[in-house]
Amino acid sequence: MKIKSLMCLFVSVFLTFAAQTQEAASDDIKSRIQPLGKVHVAGAKPETSSAGPRSGAQVYNKSCVACHSVGVLGAPKLHDAADWGPRMSKGIDTLVEHGIKGFNAMPPKGTCGDCSDDEIKAAIEYMIEGL
Ligand code: HEC
Repeated sequence: MKIKSLMCLFVSVFLTFAAQTQEAASDDIKSRIQPLGKVHVAGAKPETSSAGPRSGAQVYNKSCVACHSVGVLGAPKLHDAADWGPRMSKGIDTLVEHGIKGFNAMPPKGTCGDCSDDEIKAAIEYMIEGL
C-alpha cells in the first residue's frame, strides 16, 4: 500500500514536470515560427517611400542582387573589376542610361519600378565602387 502511493506520487510529479517542459518548448517553437513581419529585427528600419532616396547598397540589395551577385545571364558582378572594366570605359553616363532604359538582357531599372533615376545611378556607383 505504501509503495503504491509512493509510485503514484512519483508518476504524478513526473507527469507535471513533463507537461511543463513541453509547454515551454511549444511556446518557444511558436515564437520561432511567427511570420517574419511580426518579428522585430534589431536595427532594421522599415522601408517606406517617404524615407527619402534609398542608398545604392539598399537598391542593389533589393533589386539588382539577384542577377549581379553571381552574374546571371552574364550580368557584371558586384565589385568585379574584370566584369566592369570594359563597361566602365563606356563612361558612367552610358552605364546609367543602360541601367535606366535597359540593355540586352538587363531589364529597365533592373525591375525596380519605383526607383528614381538617381537611385539607379547610386546602385550602379555602389556596384563599381572602388574599381
Ligand atoms: C534579371 C537580371 C538583372 C537584374 C535584376 C539587374 N540586372 Fe543589370 N544587367 C543584367 C545583365 C544580364 C547585364 C548584361 C547585359 C549585357 O551586357 O548584354 C546587366 C548589365 C548591367 C549594367 C551594364 C550596362 C552596360 O552598358 O554595360 C548596369 C549598369 C546594370 N546592369 C545595372 C543594374 C542595376 C542598377 C540593377 C538594379 C537596380 C540591375 N542592373 C538589375 C541583368 C540584370
